[in-house]
Amino acid sequence: MLGGITTDDEGVTMRLVGWIHRRRDLGGLLFLDLRDRSGLLQVSLGPDWTDADSLERAHRLGSETVVSVEGVVKQRPADARNPEMATGDVELQAASLTVLNEARTPEIPVYLAPEEQLPAEELRLRHRVLDLRRPELRDNLVLRHRLIMAARKHLDSLGFIEVETPILTKPTPEGARDYLVPSRMHPGQFYALPQSPQIYKQILMAAGFDRYFQIARCFRDEDLRADRQPEFTQIDVEASFVAPDDIFGWMEGVMAAMADVSPSVEAPTPFARMTHADAMERFGIDRPDLRYSLEIQDWTGPLGALEFGILQSAVSEGGRIRGLLLEGGATLSRKQIEAIEADAKSAGAPGLLWAKRSEEGGSGPLSRFMSDEDYAALGMAVGDLILVAAGPDLVTSPALALSRMAAIAQLGISPESEHAWLWITDFPMFDEEPGGRLAASHHPFVHVHPEDAALLDSEPARARAQAYDLVYNGAELGSGSIRNHDAEAQRKILRILGLADEDIELKFGFLLAALQSGAPPHGGIALGMDRIVMLFVGAPSLRDVVAFPKTTAARALFEGAPVSIGARDLDELGLKSTGI
Ligand code: AMO
Repeated sequence: MLGGITTDDEGVTMRLVGWIHRRRDLGGLLFLDLRDRSGLLQVSLGPDWTDADSLERAHRLGSETVVSVEGVVKQRPADARNPEMATGDVELQAASLTVLNEARTPEIPVYLAPEEQLPAEELRLRHRVLDLRRPELRDNLVLRHRLIMAARKHLDSLGFIEVETPILTKPTPEGARDYLVPSRMHPGQFYALPQSPQIYKQILMAAGFDRYFQIARCFRDEDLRADRQPEFTQIDVEASFVAPDDIFGWMEGVMAAMADVSPSVEAPTPFARMTHADAMERFGIDRPDLRYSLEIQDWTGPLGALEFGILQSAVSEGGRIRGLLLEGGATLSRKQIEAIEADAKSAGAPGLLWAKRSEEGGSGPLSRFMSDEDYAALGMAVGDLILVAAGPDLVTSPALALSRMAAIAQLGISPESEHAWLWITDFPMFDEEPGGRLAASHHPFVHVHPEDAALLDSEPARARAQAYDLVYNGAELGSGSIRNHDAEAQRKILRILGLADEDIELKFGFLLAALQSGAPPHGGIALGMDRIVMLFVGAPSLRDVVAFPKTTAARALFEGAPVSIGARDLDELGLKSTGI
């Protein structure tokens, strides 16, 4: 591998193979940067080259052509060394060069000069084979491999065994749409691609495989974003006879093992913990970014007492007045505050109220109603700013969560730590949908919090679950829970979710049969592998850490998928196209 050649190799004759990354033609002298997976090495050709013909050919070689060169490793003269390059002290003085495969002119450059911009992402995805040659993407995939190996090794050392579960399955309820696969043998019937191995891993527990894991591919037909791909990979884990503490300890070990092979992330254990209720109250979100300590305050008392109709009616309608106190925030311009407000509105809030405290009194829509005593009651000093939202928590929490991050960005507040790991515990069992229907807050197999079992009969919407998330710097990395191992308890949850008994049998009969066969108490978690790599390399999108990603429109641009299927193939599958 040419990236490892050093001055120790001086004088050694070598034959090296690779791609022409970059070519510099200095008249009689030709320099090629030769590239393979390990890095780059400068190769010099001429002027002592005896074979003038082949030197002439070498001068015409295009970038990305695959060549084999033979020559002697030499130290570069002091003034020709390149400290930016790992092999910058040496070069190969070539005696011969053979073209192994000439490349046509690349559609996108692999080598980018410092002032050159990356081509548009769509173009790069169309020419993924070239894009993947860029050292940045190559390094991301190499680190991805190392992280997966570290996780595998750590789980193996804990006695977990990897079991593969089916890709052609029955629908699993993880909240997204399924990708369906028509069955040729059974026209009109479909397999579903797994949204996760959830049910299979529970069945494996019933079967006695008490510590399972899988680097599992999952498929979800959902709206895509930078941190969501239609197919993605989980580190999927399940274990029997466990409590959440066991899972936390094991997963902290997995993350620490991955951090050990990462150049930029640290994972000091144990991680912090916070209940879901606490997170929503203090940060308005179930994945708070704890690199910043700024918290949401409840000012229903002091601000509800102001002679301000909007605030008074929000309180009389059962809402609260909550907000953020930004020290030194008065430096923000009206335009900057409006940008923060735009984020609050995007979360569904009608708007944000604000006030700046100054030597002269104050400014902003709230300031007319506030006296010096009112400012002091909120802990505001001169130069501070408050951002305020009033209404039901369901509206103010997401609005203030977004405002918090937007204000941090606008004020340029520095993080207080670099790596904020956090377990969020005690998620609610259910979300209330319009019309009062209950939906599973995570998925329907979650066990109720031991203190809230009775609430399932009286007020299920208030019941907490034995469910938890792993959060890193404000991103959800994983989710898990203790499960219902008792078939009756599982049936009860499915009934609360509105399923009729026949539907329960039809959809989940095989799981219930497994639970009835003597299933041990069990629980687990799944960590999003792609998100882990994305955060570990600081990439803006999952597309930078997946070899062959889809666009946000769920298209594979390099190979060109999805595609239309011919009438004969459809016929064989018992399908008819509507011709759209
Ligand atoms: P959940 O659906 O929360 O849980 O998924 C677990 C983790 O997988 C990652 N993830 C994704 N990554 C990329 N693209 C997506 N579309 C995507 N969707 C999810 C996230 C998420 O935290 N069966 C349960 C786990 C369990 O209960 O054990 C499950 O799949 O990082």
